[in-house]
Amino acid sequence: MTDPAGATKIVLDESEMPRQWYNLLADLPAPPPPVLHPGTLQPVGPDDLAPLFPMALILQEVSGDRYVDIPDEVLDVYRLWRPSPLYRAHRLERALGTPAKIFYKYEGVSPAGSHKPNTAVPQAFYNAQAGIRRLTTETGAGQWGTALAFACAQFGLDCEIWQVRASYDQKPYRKIMIETFGGVIHPSPSPLTQAGRAILAEHPDSPGSLGIAISEAVEVAAQDPETNYALGSVLNHVLLHQTVIGQEALAQFAKVGMSPDVIVGCTGGGSNFAGLTFPFLREKIEGRMDVTIRAVEPASCPSLTKGVYAYDFGDTAGMTPLMKMHTLGHDFVPDPIHAGGLRYHGMSPLVSHLYELGLIEAVAKTQRECFEAGVRFARAEGIIPAPEPTHALAACIEEALRCKETGEPKVILTALCGHGHLDLAAYGAFLSGELTDHELSSEEITEYVAALPAVPA
Ligand SMILES: Cc1ncc(COP(=O)(O)O)c(C=O)c1O
Repeated sequence: MTDPAGATKIVLDESEMPRQWYNLLADLPAPPPPVLHPGTLQPVGPDDLAPLFPMALILQEVSGDRYVDIPDEVLDVYRLWRPSPLYRAHRLERALGTPAKIFYKYEGVSPAGSHKPNTAVPQAFYNAQAGIRRLTTETGAGQWGTALAFACAQFGLDCEIWQVRASYDQKPYRKIMIETFGGVIHPSPSPLTQAGRAILAEHPDSPGSLGIAISEAVEVAAQDPETNYALGSVLNHVLLHQTVIGQEALAQFAKVGMSPDVIVGCTGGGSNFAGLTFPFLREKIEGRMDVTIRAVEPASCPSLTKGVYAYDFGDTAGMTPLMKMHTLGHDFVPDPIHAGGLRYHGMSPLVSHLYELGLIEAVAKTQRECFEAGVRFARAEGIIPAPEPTHALAACIEEALRCKETGEPKVILTALCGHGHLDLAAYGAFLSGELTDHELSSEEITEYVAALPAVPA
């Protein structure tokens, strides 16, 4: 390569793939508040989590070790698509007329088409190693369900998935993809569980939510000793697995002798954002890098920017432990926007803690501004983004246009955490002018957070 800084694709060799996950907990200036048992309100211990997760994952959840080795069996599967490319968006920069240098780390090259297999594979591996036969889970847009079905097929596990009804209807090809990998999929709320039946009795036309689908998957796993539950975001071990993204990106920037001034990533439960940014946060905390890190969420589900920072359940029925996080209340059912993966009432406790510490910023974007950014990106770069990362792209374009005004040649990095090939109906709705914007009002938020569980300070 004659001019590395001018390259379009910065790629790593398989031999340069990270062999450890990075645990940000080891480097934080203050630890996050503990996760509590909802009955005793005492910090949960490994035994409380054992009915749902294998011990290897429980230990990763609470680990204070800075680095955790990635098992060889997981590395073998990662090699199907990792290391993923880091792209320089030359064409988008030209289209915007900005002096900014825009980079995107593309996770759409994975079997599911997103970052989700980075954690699905180790979760399936550790469960298979522990003798578990079946995994249950929820899925929003279907990226996580597809990833887990793929990962279960790699390690000989059965996989049963509850997909949020709104997305199940909007994205029918996800179901076929999941079934092709051998998974079983139900729309949620479903009549198969007590949690689903209770919601259907009150709201027969419920569009569903990630919180409801989690309740259904947890209920089924808790009743069968050979079945465990797998979560696609939010928890520390999930965020840990995703740090392969940011570690690779750091190495890729080092190859071209650059480093980002601004990083933007979309946040549903926080896993792709954490995966990209945590290794850069380590550099920031240790004073080696001066970088602004910004989370982007939907205006219709603004947990970080408008939610309260309080203990809440991770699911709607109240079956999970209590986590201190930014939340809109576990009863909150978001508007059925097309970025199904961002329709979660809460936020990862770790990402929430970083926001409280002032280490990251957050903004909210409306759906139409995001699709406009997605279309602009697609026309310039040739990749149709999943609706979720269009939120990051909208914030990325906003930053690049600010640079155009100020003349600053900032280096902007964003997470293109998935492609939108199975989300084309959403693009169709946008292109034909059918998409509407919905911004959550303060009155609505006050109503939902009033139902938060009481936890003494
Ligand atoms: C492509 C994509 N991006 C982002 C998300 C949001 O989840 P997280 O915040 O955990 O990355 C999802 C969730 O399904 C997704 O499918």
